[in-house]
Amino acid sequence: MTKDQSSHETNVENEDTLTNRQGHPITNNQNIRTIGNRGPATLENYDFIEKISHFDRERIPERVVHARGAGAHGYFEAYGAAGDEDISKYTRAKLFQVKGKQTPVFVRFSSVIHGGHSPETLRDPRGFAVKFYTEDGNWDLVGNNLKIFFIRDAIKFPDMIHAFKPDPVTNIQDSERFFDFCASSPESFHMVTFIYSPWGIPANYRMMQGSGVNTYKWVNKHGKAVLVKYHWQPKQGIRNLTQKEAEEIQGKNFNHATQDLYDAIEKGDFPEWELLVQIMSDDDHPELDFDPLDDTKLWPEDQFPWMAVGKMVLNRNPEDYFMEVEQVAFGTGVLVDGLDFSDDKMLQGRTFSYSDTQRHRVGANYLQLPINAPKKRVATNQSGGQMAYRLDRGPFQNPHINYEPSILDGLQEAEQLGEEYTPMIKGNLVRQSIDRQNNTKQAGETYRNFEQWEKTELIANLVNDLANCDKRIQEKMIVLAEEADTDYGLHLREGLAHAKKDGSTNKPLGNRNGDDAPKEAIEKSN
Ligand code: HEM
Repeated sequence: MTKDQSSHETNVENEDTLTNRQGHPITNNQNIRTIGNRGPATLENYDFIEKISHFDRERIPERVVHARGAGAHGYFEAYGAAGDEDISKYTRAKLFQVKGKQTPVFVRFSSVIHGGHSPETLRDPRGFAVKFYTEDGNWDLVGNNLKIFFIRDAIKFPDMIHAFKPDPVTNIQDSERFFDFCASSPESFHMVTFIYSPWGIPANYRMMQGSGVNTYKWVNKHGKAVLVKYHWQPKQGIRNLTQKEAEEIQGKNFNHATQDLYDAIEKGDFPEWELLVQIMSDDDHPELDFDPLDDTKLWPEDQFPWMAVGKMVLNRNPEDYFMEVEQVAFGTGVLVDGLDFSDDKMLQGRTFSYSDTQRHRVGANYLQLPINAPKKRVATNQSGGQMAYRLDRGPFQNPHINYEPSILDGLQEAEQLGEEYTPMIKGNLVRQSIDRQNNTKQAGETYRNFEQWEKTELIANLVNDLANCDKRIQEKMIVLAEEADTDYGLHLREGLAHAKKDGSTNKPLGNRNGDDAPKEAIEKSN
C-alpha cells in the first residue's frame, strides 16, 4: 500500500508515530493535499500550513554580538577555600563554602564580531559565559578569554561594535574602521596588543583561559565587601595560533572549535578549568597607577595573587543546539547572595544591556525556558506576556493573590541571609573619565612579556592590517606603540615603512597572504 492510499486509513499510533503539534497523527508527510495528483493545492491543508509556517519562523534574531557559539553542560566543584585562605572571610556565597560541593553549570563559548556561521579561526576575543544553577538561584559569570577589554565606559560599546563589524555600505569588515576607532580610543591599545598577537586566535575553546574581565565584589556574612576578579585556567593547557596556522585550519574546517569541544566530550575527554580569583580591599587604591575599576588593566599577580576556589568540568553535550546554545541567556546582573557589582562603569552598562536584548532576542518569558530557569523553586507574581506557559506560583499558593503585600495570603518576602552590604556613595553627578588612565604602560609590559614568536606575529599582523589605513591612523597607532615600549614602536614604524599598499580599499582583520605579508618586520623582530 502506498503512503497516498494509507492517508485515509484508521490511524494506528505507536511510540514513534509522527504527529503534529495538536497531537494528530500524520499519515502522509510526503504530499500536500491537492485536487488530483497534479494540483492545485487547497488552503485547508492544516498539516502542511502548520509545518511550513513554523519552519518560516525557525530562527530568532541572532545575538547582536557573540552570535557564533558552542555550549556544554557540566558542574562546578568548590574547593571550600580561596587558595590557602578561609573563603567565608570574603564571601558568603553558598556555592563556594563546602569542599567538594557540586553545582551544575552550562557554558557557552563564542566569537564576537561575525554572524552565526562565521569561521571560528577569526582574530577576535572569545566569549566564555558560565551559568551556575546554584541552590540560591542562578549566577552568570559572563566573561571572555582575555582578561581585559578595549574600552572602560559602556557608552562607547555601540560605537566600538559598529567600527569592528562590517562596513554598513559594503558589508565588508574593514581594518581601517577598526583602527580608526582604536587610534582615537587609546585605552584600547592594551587589548589591541593582545588581539593582534597569537592570543587573538585561541587554538580552540578547550585550550583557552577565561576571565570575568570586569571587577565584581564579594560580600561576607558581616556585610563587608572586597573587590574581586575571576579567571578560568584550562587544565588542557593554553594554545594560540599564528595567522598562518589559522588560515590553514580555516581552509579545511570553519567549525573546528565547536567540533573540537563536541568531539572531546563525546569521547569522554572532559575539559576542565580551575576558577581562580584575585582580591583587593574595597577602596580606590590611590597607591596603584591604575584604577581597580578600569577593565583595560591587569591586576599584577605579584600584588594580587591568583587564589584557586574550585574547578569546572564539562561532561555533557547539548541535546539540541537551538534549545540550549541559541536560547541560553546570560547576564552580568544575574548574581546570588554573597556576590555583588562594583562601580566598574562597563559592568553597570552591561548589566542593563543583557536582559534588555534577551527580552527582544528570545522573548519576554525567556527565563521560563528550561536552559535559563533556575534548578530550584521559583515563585513570583509575574504572569502573562508572549509565550507564557507556566505560572511561577507554587501549587499551594492562593491563585487569587497575585500581588504582595497582602493580609490575606500570597507570597512573602524572604529573610536577609546575612548582614546587608550598604556602601556609602557621595559625589557630584558628572560625565567624566576616570583618573589614572595610563593607557599604554601595561601594553608595554604585555609586549615585553611575550615570547619572541608572539612579538613577531604581533608586529606582522599589525603591519598587515594597518598598511592600508589612512596615514594619520597609522601614525597614531605608532605613537601609542612607542609610548608603550620603544622596541614595539620601532618595529611597528619600520614594518609600516616597508609594507607596500596593495591598492584595495577594504581589508578584513587578520587576513594575511602572499606578497603583502610584512617579511621585513618578521625578520627584524627575530
Ligand atoms: C554578549 C552587550 C561588554 C562578554 C553580549 C550581548 C550583548 C552584550 C547585547 C548579546 C547577549 C544576548 O543576546 O544574549 C555588551 C555591552 C558591553 C559588553 C553593552 C559593554 C558595555 C562585554 C565584555 C565582555 C562581554 C567586557 C567580557 C567580559 C560577552 C559574552 C557574550 C556577550 C561572553 C555572549 C554570551 C553568550 O554566550 O550568550 N554582550 N557586552 N561583553 N558579551 Fe557582552
